[in-house]
Amino acid sequence: LDNGLARTPPMGWMSWERFRCNIDCKNDPHNCISAKLLMQMADRMAEDGYLEAGYEYLSVDDCWMAKERSHFMGSLIADPERFPNGMKAVIDYGGLKFGIYGQFLNITWKCRNLYWGVDMLKLDCCNPGPNFVTGMATFDIEATGIATFDIETTGFEKMGLYLNKTGRPILYGCSLALCMGPKVDYNLAKKYCNMWRNYEDVEDSWQYVFNIIEFYGKNDKKFLEIAGPGGWNDADQLIVGDFSLSVGQQQTQIGLWAIMAAPLFMSVDLRNIDATAKQLLLNKEVLAIHQDSLGIAGKRIWNIDEYAGRLESWLRPLSPKGRYAVGIFNKNVGGLLQMVNRTMSQLGLTDENGYTMKEVFTGISYGPYKLSDSLVIKLPPSNLFLAVATPVTEKELIIS
Ligand code: DGJ
Repeated sequence: LDNGLARTPPMGWMSWERFRCNIDCKNDPHNCISAKLLMQMADRMAEDGYLEAGYEYLSVDDCWMAKERSHFMGSLIADPERFPNGMKAVIDYGGLKFGIYGQFLNITWKCRNLYWGVDMLKLDCCNPGPNFVTGMATFDIEATGIATFDIETTGFEKMGLYLNKTGRPILYGCSLALCMGPKVDYNLAKKYCNMWRNYEDVEDSWQYVFNIIEFYGKNDKKFLEIAGPGGWNDADQLIVGDFSLSVGQQQTQIGLWAIMAAPLFMSVDLRNIDATAKQLLLNKEVLAIHQDSLGIAGKRIWNIDEYAGRLESWLRPLSPKGRYAVGIFNKNVGGLLQMVNRTMSQLGLTDENGYTMKEVFTGISYGPYKLSDSLVIKLPPSNLFLAVATPVTEKELIIS
């Protein structure tokens, strides 16, 4: 979407994966979706370095709204018990950009909610109501009237137009996969949205992360080629720092999200995050790959799915031109360290002068390698080797 936003893939925090639809503030006051929770996250983001590192959006997901509508034109209102001073008090808190969540269907969405001063809208598409069967939605966005339209063909576009009308730059995330499944038209997605979900929800387990990686690896419909400044494929939230991933698996998730140029929305309790996960989320080299100004998403360049070893390799072009992020991913979940023995050419690199590499999780330097020289490493199951490859300069060649 050409609204001046998301020139590089967006970064922030999102409530959904970690805090879900917990509205039980009586029994679980510390973790329910509430003003308190969001403000505490805002504090952590501002005070613990996340905002400075680039995580600028604080995005509330589903379950913020009251069951009842406002008497004024039936617009959505925040649950008064969980948001005693209204949503506006949270939006204005803490110096972050604020993201709100809405759905087609069952919701009479009013632009009023956007006038509060939100900076992001995640427009979702679940919770099918009676209209879902026909794929039509009634979308009462303006006081002037009710519009009924086909979600699949015009829904996201229409909302985008209304967002533009607010005159406020609003990052627009479209949950296309839930609405349209495999019918997503990525060229339209890029035209109408700043980011778009194209696959299932992540859950707090390695299997879900793995499935997303596999979907992006296959890259059917060439959606990775369509991403670029203004619009990105949304691989869903990071579960780094949550309950289920090993340290290596956490590195794999954030590392491959960086290569895929997928938005980085942490969904983790920043009040209790362990030091290793925090360090990883703030890893400058990973984030530099993610935020690279060329704005080209990386792709899987080969994939070996054999009994003896499952391995794949990814490549993302970086600026200045000629540099690359190289990812090598051991897809096995169990077993031994896997031997990787690949020449620079086999990793997709082409500069005749060869390359040096720096691995971002360990800080280890490799090379210089000629194109025919091999990188030889041992990679634990479900781990990622993530390096920045820099071409050897003419000067360095002469010296060596
Ligand atoms: C489905 C989305 O894909 C999730 O990210 C989350 O927003 C839930 N809906 C909330 O109901």
